[in-house]
Amino acid sequence: MKPLKDSKRTLLKPHLLSVEELSIPEIDILLNKANFYADANRQKGKIEKTLKGSTVITLFFETSTRTKTSFELAAKRLGADSIGINASTSAIKKGETLIDTAMTLNAMHADILIVRHPDSGAVKLLSEKVNCAVINAGDGTHEHPTQALLDALTIKRNKKNIKGLNIAICGDVLHSRVARSNILLLSKLGARIRIIAPPTLIPKGIENLGVEIFNNMEKGLINCDIVMMLRLQTERMKGLYVPSTREYFKFYGLDHKKLKNAKKDALIMHPGPMNRGIEIDSSLADNLDRSVIHQQVEIGVAVRMACLEMLTVGIDK
Ligand code: NCD
Repeated sequence: MKPLKDSKRTLLKPHLLSVEELSIPEIDILLNKANFYADANRQKGKIEKTLKGSTVITLFFETSTRTKTSFELAAKRLGADSIGINASTSAIKKGETLIDTAMTLNAMHADILIVRHPDSGAVKLLSEKVNCAVINAGDGTHEHPTQALLDALTIKRNKKNIKGLNIAICGDVLHSRVARSNILLLSKLGARIRIIAPPTLIPKGIENLGVEIFNNMEKGLINCDIVMMLRLQTERMKGLYVPSTREYFKFYGLDHKKLKNAKKDALIMHPGPMNRGIEIDSSLADNLDRSVIHQQVEIGVAVRMACLEMLTVGIDK
């Protein structure tokens, strides 16, 4: 880690592994800086290369479009050298362990490693073996902190305040690290969270996180400000969780009729990738008056810029 350049900066140390470990002041500082970058990215303005000379490496053991690209873009916008490693074409294929791969990258003097792994806890394990900062880009069904941060900023930019909002998180909560990180972050910021899902897709003990649970989507959406849809994560399913995708869409897919139960100005979100016609009606996903799905992607770059900065040079208070 680089030393703090001056005491007016906030430096998040040493890693970003979960939302759980973030304090409210840290979240505020991160989101404020990300908000600044969201505007700067739109204006194609000159962005200070605060990460010049730093090396950022993305190491993904699972597929990704949005998260990997946006981290690499974020690093480049701040002037860092960024390199992407794909587990399917690296020595991991030859049997190298996760830790050996991490140690190899560490020996190349990376400043930040951004890691996605199918096992919950794997990114934390890796972070204990290296001496650079590590960002969790999704570990199993555990956490995906930067997704929750970008979702929070998307909500903030559209609704001004998160406090007091009714936010429904709908669908495959059981297999979703996005849902877990969002429940933790958005309730920390004062929102009321509802989970809407069939009983088979609700994790045991989720009520301990202070959420309200609904099995009926029409009822669950009443008076909601935000409708956050989740992908049916079939790659994580061992066995049958829903009778058929047709049946699933009928009861838990977001369509025009069900959306009428939410507030008139309720926003639709989805972390992507979307399964059109399975968890969301295609025309709703594309309705720019209601859907902020593309804004989530755009804001993702800005949030990741702020995270990279906060872990290396720190952010001005
Ligand atoms: C999510 C993920 O990988 O956890 N996607 C993402 O990062 N935008 C959600 C998903 O895969 O369904």
